[in-house]
Amino acid sequence: MTGNRERREIDSEGIEVRLLLEAIFLKYGYDFREYSHSHIQRRIHHRLAISECPTISEMIHRVLYDPCFFEEVLQDLSINVTHMYRDPSLYRAVREEVVPHLSTYPFIKVWHAGCATGEEVYSFSILFREEGLKDRIQTYATDFNAPILEQAMQGIYPMERIRQYTANYHDAGGRNSFADYYTAMYDSVVMDTAIRKRILFSIHNLVSDSVFGEMHIIFCRNVLIYFNRELQDKVIKLFLDSLCPGGFLCLGSKESLAFSRYADRFIPVNETEKIYRKPRSKMPISREEEPVPPPNGTGELTHSTVKGKHA
Ligand SMILES: C[S@@+](CC[C@H](N)C(=O)[O-])C[C@H]1O[C@@H](n2cnc3c(N)ncnc32)[C@H](O)[C@@H]1O
Repeated sequence: MTGNRERREIDSEGIEVRLLLEAIFLKYGYDFREYSHSHIQRRIHHRLAISECPTISEMIHRVLYDPCFFEEVLQDLSINVTHMYRDPSLYRAVREEVVPHLSTYPFIKVWHAGCATGEEVYSFSILFREEGLKDRIQTYATDFNAPILEQAMQGIYPMERIRQYTANYHDAGGRNSFADYYTAMYDSVVMDTAIRKRILFSIHNLVSDSVFGEMHIIFCRNVLIYFNRELQDKVIKLFLDSLCPGGFLCLGSKESLAFSRYADRFIPVNETEKIYRKPRSKMPISREEEPVPPPNGTGELTHSTVKGKHA
């Protein structure tokens, strides 16, 4: 009897959560209905604890009639934690295993999906500059959260984080002094204008917006962990369709393609660092079957590019 009552209570909260997400979708167009249940529940409970809403049902009413309250809920649901050179070993792997391929293209398109406040975007832009690719790269940085994207565009970060970021930069294989890439302003730093002006920031929602064409590399790190399995697959398909043949996909350290229905449409490049590659041929192929050397200028290494890189 008690067990049944408990189950009914859990179900009621589940219903309230679904109604809240439906209300947000219908009123504002943001679709959180396929985000991971535990993430959504945690964030809703966080908002309940700090707002004057006693129940989720009352949150629904406030979300519908108070756009400022909705903005707060939106910020709760989009976790924006990020750092410069997060996971430095990934940066080393990109330098060593991906850059030699990218270097063979005359023009390189990079997409950071879910870029938050931009630290990852600046970190990789610096890496690509140091690898001599700066004049060939166009970087696109997107997020669905407008105020957060505005911060990314400004490229201003607290001075107190710079010591850690400098250590990360060197761990990541940085070749210069990290101070070369920013200007100090009182208790903040602003990223170098020459770096900022090669990045195109724009609003893009991975759930509802379409393909971002012919990318050579896509970074989508620490975003898929907030989605349920179906939504992860939908977004991975979006990346598959947005990559050029031979393009790379980099996920976060806790994310993987292993359980995706599109796993066999990618070749693992470095499983530890979660780097994958779209095959050059249209058919799914296994790692052993990969390529038939293609013409140069298409992301494939020739004997001379390999030699040149390590010389
Ligand atoms: C934890 S941050 C990751 C930032 C950075 N990629 C990193 O790994 O450091 C997750 C970002 O994904 C964004 N995000 C969540 N859902 C999204 C969606 N549907 N479309 C685009 N961005 C989304 C959030 O706004 C947030 O800025």
